[in-house]
Amino acid sequence: MTAANISPISLTSNAGVTAHSLFVCKTCASVWQDGKRIGESGGQKLLQQIQELAQNWDLRDEFPIEEVECMSACNRSCVVAFAGQGKLTYLFGDLPVDGCAEAVLECASKYYNRPDGVLPWSERPEPLKKGILARIPSL
Ligand code: FES
Repeated sequence: MTAANISPISLTSNAGVTAHSLFVCKTCASVWQDGKRIGESGGQKLLQQIQELAQNWDLRDEFPIEEVECMSACNRSCVVAFAGQGKLTYLFGDLPVDGCAEAVLECASKYYNRPDGVLPWSERPEPLKKGILARIPSL
């Protein structure tokens, strides 16, 4: 095999589409008592709502939903993040437990369709217009 036959490492999936992740904190909006979490957290409820809705989402295979324990924005719950290869990473907080799952997926779709991931304020759904906690440059 010559060097010309070796494929470069690709940052894209096998479909030629950049890799994406929708992170949802499942610990946000927890109620704690004596060091133990009581009942289901707000983050778990939001995660379930997003997962349910995503069953009919056309990007469900390209933009996997990943649950995380914490993204260090606990006092701004609920918290989600969008990340994609070669794109800005966004961290959103202050999301209500109920009624924002559709907005999260709508905003994720916009993010997916932008080559640089830029999400202008005017184009974001209402629940994600405020509460941006971070906008991190791509690698
Ligand atoms: S508990 Fe959700 S960000 Fe820390």
